Amino acid sequence: MKVTIVGAGAVGASCAEYIAIKNFASEVVLIDIKEDYAEGKAMDLMQTSSLLGFDTKITGSTNDYSKTANSDIAVITSGVPRKPGMTREELIGINADIVKSVSQSLLEHSPNVTLIVVSNPMDTMTYLVHKTTKLPKNKIIGMGGALDSARFKYRISEALGCPASDVDGMVIGGHSDTGMVPLTRLATRNSVPVSEFLSKERIEQVSEDTKVGGATLTKMLGTSAWYAPGAAVSSLVQAIACDQKKMFPCSALLEGEYGLNDLCIGVPVILGKNGIEKIVEVELDDAEKSKLKDSSEGVSKTNDLLDLKK
Ligand code: 2OP
Repeated sequence: MKVTIVGAGAVGASCAEYIAIKNFASEVVLIDIKEDYAEGKAMDLMQTSSLLGFDTKITGSTNDYSKTANSDIAVITSGVPRKPGMTREELIGINADIVKSVSQSLLEHSPNVTLIVVSNPMDTMTYLVHKTTKLPKNKIIGMGGALDSARFKYRISEALGCPASDVDGMVIGGHSDTGMVPLTRLATRNSVPVSEFLSKERIEQVSEDTKVGGATLTKMLGTSAWYAPGAAVSSLVQAIACDQKKMFPCSALLEGEYGLNDLCIGVPVILGKNGIEKIVEVELDDAEKSKLKDSSEGVSKTNDLLDLKK
């Protein structure tokens, strides 16, 4: 199983590290435009292999896509991260061209690759990849909801004073500070609805804190987060690489599901060897449906900024 990660920055390198530690991939190629940067990160990571006990071979390349040939899965993290006070949508001008050229370079050497898009604004970048490549729609996955759901579970565990492993919850909708839809009604602590433990107000606060989870960290760190994003991507890679049939909220191209069309937005999907094996249509209540619709309008507005005729 060969995995390419484009962008050897904090998110890409963290993802490589977690994939290696999970030891399910034979090869990980890190690629970056900065001279020797991916090679250095790969060498540093390989020097942990005797300490962490993995066999994955991690190599780096300075923009030579021949080194990514025959990748089964490729993760696109390249582009600029946001700075404090910025929205993800403000990155579109720079990142759209980068994501377009990177996906085309990947496909030249790995025509059957499954692509996972991380670069922001992620839902729109995922849509761009659909529009500019001939890849089947099940092989293009946007990573946002898995990260947002991890933050949602963290906030619930914080409110409950329990381990996050006791919590289940999912965030759907756009991966944006205003477009996320944390499904608080369905969140549980060991199968018991969280509403049995938390007041309506506290649950609302958890939901609001989740939505700005990325912005909160960007303000604290001066740049976008990387540990949880990297870990979230590595979980999607593992589900595909190991054909796990696991369900995650991912940005997927909708063609009528949830009453939405011609956009990519976070919905529950089953991930396996074929990438998105199924889009799961969960029964939403009226409030959730309306939030998802509002979120889709925000994503479509950002999509309209793409110059798809280029
Ligand atoms: C985040 O929310 C980078 O969009 C990513 O941290």
